[in-house]
Amino acid sequence: MSRIAYVNGRYRPHRNALIHVEDRGYQFADGVYEVCEVRAAHIVDERRHLARLTRSLAALRIELPMRPKALSIVLHETVRRNRVRDGIVYLQVTRGVARRDHAFPAPGTAPSMVVTARSHDTAKAEHAAAAGIAVITLADNRWARPDIKSVSLLPNVLAKQAAREAGAREAWFIDARGFVTEGASSNAWIVTAAGDVVTRPVDNGILNGISRAVVVDAIAATGLRLIERPFTATEAKAAREAFVTAASQIVQPVVRIDGNPVGDGRPGPLAAALRREFHRHAEFT
Ligand code: PDD
Repeated sequence: MSRIAYVNGRYRPHRNALIHVEDRGYQFADGVYEVCEVRAAHIVDERRHLARLTRSLAALRIELPMRPKALSIVLHETVRRNRVRDGIVYLQVTRGVARRDHAFPAPGTAPSMVVTARSHDTAKAEHAAAAGIAVITLADNRWARPDIKSVSLLPNVLAKQAAREAGAREAWFIDARGFVTEGASSNAWIVTAAGDVVTRPVDNGILNGISRAVVVDAIAATGLRLIERPFTATEAKAAREAFVTAASQIVQPVVRIDGNPVGDGRPGPLAAALRREFHRHAEFT
């Protein structure tokens, strides 16, 4: 089946889904994005993703390209046209096409919007979660506003590649004080020896993950204790469990950090339970 992408008002065959060379997303990474999980042909937590999109756009003073209701229709239509049951839907909005100049283009320049969707292999994803992933740590060299979900992802790209080259699946960024901020494309969590679940509080230094919010709700419902505080890589390596959260992975156990096994080196029971419980606390549309 051929893939379809939404590009600025049209549904196009994926291979012809083109953006202009002077799109500011292409030239300046002047845009934002969202990734939502698709499960059983429904979009997971669309409302919260669109709220975060609105916030990111407002922070960069880019107009929402259409009303939220219309945007929701485009998201669902892209999922439908690609016959995605389980996978992701990707949305990107940039400041639009204009003659290259760093400062904002003339008022009224239409933002560009692209939506794509693709399936993933659920059996493979479950298999990966059963095995857990390795992470490496490296210095957080990003700008001071990772809370804005900008498409400007070069440090994340380089970090992820460094992880791959080290045989790991994710990289955890470490701030100047030695604390883990977040992963290159996920939020970071640990479980202490006492059984407390620990994750960094939401501030400008991390993305306010939607999956993170879902897991916070799941923890409350399960009667576990959540402590929102920064933790170091050293503490993480000695933790009972570690895991990451992201729309594309839900809850993914971490079994090695910089080559050191976490706990007994196998996915922990709390991470597994939170992964199982996850969708009971998510919204489906
Ligand atoms: N990444 N932190 C970063 C830097 C991220 O890129 C992401 C998501 C998250 C988790 O956010 P959420 O739970 O809302 O997906 C945290 C997406 C999936 C990506 O870039 O593909």
